[in-house]
Amino acid sequence: MDSKAIVILGAQYGDEAKGNLTDYIINNNDIKYVIRFNGGANAGHTIIHNNITIDTHLYPSGIATNNVINIIGNGVLMNIMSFLWETFHLVDKNISMNYIINHLIISSRAHVTLLCQQYWDYSTNKIGTTNKGIGPTMACKALRVAMRMEDFLTDNYINKIHDMYNYIRKFIIWEPYTLTFPPLENNNFNTNITFETMDEMMEYELKVIKENIVFIRSIIVDTVSYINNISKNDIILFEGANAFGLDTDFGTYPCVTSTSCITSACMSGTGVSMRNLIDRNVKIIGVFKAYITRVGSGAFPTYQNNEWGNMVQDVGKEYGVTTGRRRRCGYLDLVQLAHSSLINCYDELNITKLDVLCFSDEIKVCIDYCDKDGNIILEYPSCDKKLQDVQPIYKTFKGWGITMNELKNIKKFDDLPETIKNFIIYIENYLYARIKYRINIKYINTSYSRNDKIIK
Ligand code: IMO
Ligand code: MG
Repeated sequence: MDSKAIVILGAQYGDEAKGNLTDYIINNNDIKYVIRFNGGANAGHTIIHNNITIDTHLYPSGIATNNVINIIGNGVLMNIMSFLWETFHLVDKNISMNYIINHLIISSRAHVTLLCQQYWDYSTNKIGTTNKGIGPTMACKALRVAMRMEDFLTDNYINKIHDMYNYIRKFIIWEPYTLTFPPLENNNFNTNITFETMDEMMEYELKVIKENIVFIRSIIVDTVSYINNISKNDIILFEGANAFGLDTDFGTYPCVTSTSCITSACMSGTGVSMRNLIDRNVKIIGVFKAYITRVGSGAFPTYQNNEWGNMVQDVGKEYGVTTGRRRRCGYLDLVQLAHSSLINCYDELNITKLDVLCFSDEIKVCIDYCDKDGNIILEYPSCDKKLQDVQPIYKTFKGWGITMNELKNIKKFDDLPETIKNFIIYIENYLYARIKYRINIKYINTSYSRNDKIIK
């Protein structure tokens, strides 16, 4: 690969199958470092390693690949209980603790999410967040009261945790709270526990952290110097979480997440310099589905609350890795994809889940928004409320005319049916017309499997 830095980003509202591309790129290139730079335990990436499926939330996707160093940058919110659960989950999947200690580092500057922030998120959740404490942790970060990973390095972390609980007590109304994680096989970590009081929750959290403090301390590093000193011959993969439409500034505010999800987050969330990325001939890859899904609240102009949408939901297994929630499904929205391409400056795109649409006789894409009087809207709606009001204008394509099995067996772009080729070329031309530079839809997924990809 001619690039020594690759950035993978979600181009829509999350769950575009970024993990699938990340996995593919890790396994087909000599990737030495995989770095997370945004989000937190709200992300859900599925990776498949030696036929074992692992769901990661905080861990970078390289954790299951031999010899890859995984880095969690300063921009990631470290939900410490989720992190420990995920660690034990990896151990269940035969990735040893020793291997993890030698292949994972976390920025000393990363902010910590405690259960009190998670509870705060849960008890005030108005927009359907993942309840992983993202918003409250960012609020504490902005208020300059939050805890950072480096606080774990001395025993003063115990006072710091007390301080955080006391601070947050003022903002919440307490009710008994149940913390649940999927069960673990080989660990006595309690995966289902109800706290009657906030103090009980704090004591429990402190106990678990104390039990694991040696491990936690062993992986805290100043990642800024570490990352900027990586050899220019080694390839770094920056693995984005969440997605453009959920970006705090450019997404559908206020129905957004609280960390930045755009290209520049790979710098602000790690400390890697722009010069370093330019020297590495950085490549930015956006991942989008042949349709759109969205979980949680928020505008969705092309949402299909009907049989078609339900069919996509069933065939595409559209339910969340992190929360198990049903994802709303609708037609591909090219206005949104163009806006996302403009801001994120993708060099290449990956279209996923084309196979899910094999059932459909016709396939629509949204090519413009108009207002209630039928006037085309020229500027991209700046917030959720404005996007709620638009009417989508569609272009209709013929269905693919092949079965999922036939599609899965196609290995070359030229061998795709005209229906799919036309669809892909149309999207490329549309984006060119809108943003005035060409983006190659280089990766075309023909099935759920990592290796069923056409490289164009
Ligand atoms: P991946 O990495 C899908 C959504 C939530 C909610 C909003 C705010 O799997 O693509 P938060 O918990 O972040 O405060 O919730 O953002 N959301 C995601 N939806 N995939 C994700 O990540 C998401 N991360 C956040 O559903 O609407
Ligand atoms: Mg997700």
